[in-house]
Amino acid sequence: MFNIAVFASGAGSNAQKLIDYFRTHHSIKIGLIVSNKSNAGVLQIAQSENIPALVLGKEKFFHGNGYVDELSDMDIGFIVLAGFLWKIPSTLIRSFPNKIVNIHPALLPNYGGKGMYGSFVHESVIKAGDTESGITIHFVDDQYDHGPIIFQARCSINKNDTAETLAQKIHQLEHKNYPRVVEEVVNRSRYEV
Ligand code: GRF
Repeated sequence: MFNIAVFASGAGSNAQKLIDYFRTHHSIKIGLIVSNKSNAGVLQIAQSENIPALVLGKEKFFHGNGYVDELSDMDIGFIVLAGFLWKIPSTLIRSFPNKIVNIHPALLPNYGGKGMYGSFVHESVIKAGDTESGITIHFVDDQYDHGPIIFQARCSINKNDTAETLAQKIHQLEHKNYPRVVEEVVNRSRYEV
């Protein structure tokens, strides 16, 4: 089996969808859940799904080996960020070239960058009076929300939408598209020479 690690800092609804999608997959599995927060909801998901979990230490992640050795010991071949709030250190990016993807809850390059996460994104979009938003799946490089875009999907915003209702629409788009896009990118990367 080809092992993916899912990194998440929060509730982990996207992590759950990824787990569900790959549960019966013939060649790809979610082999590890990684979090920077010891009380993140995603760790409970890992436990109830019997998936190994790793809680990152800040010093080692940013100033040590970036957990490269641990990930390689666990035979991880690809990393999927799903609401992971720490910046990925360059040691890790170098060890997983074009093998780390992120999902962002807006249409990049707009509404990205440091501090642009969760409700801050949706509040900014609503405040700007935009009539649409969406999701962006992209490769991770050493700048926040910056690497090459792989996939975008859009939703419309009407005048009654709030940051909360927009967040719901975005979550639906994420749940529907992230697992399938991850599968495509992983397969491409596995068979690339
Ligand atoms: C998602 O909206 C994702 O785009 C963002 O963080 C949120 C994570 O939600 N980066 P969940 O923990 O998967 O429910």
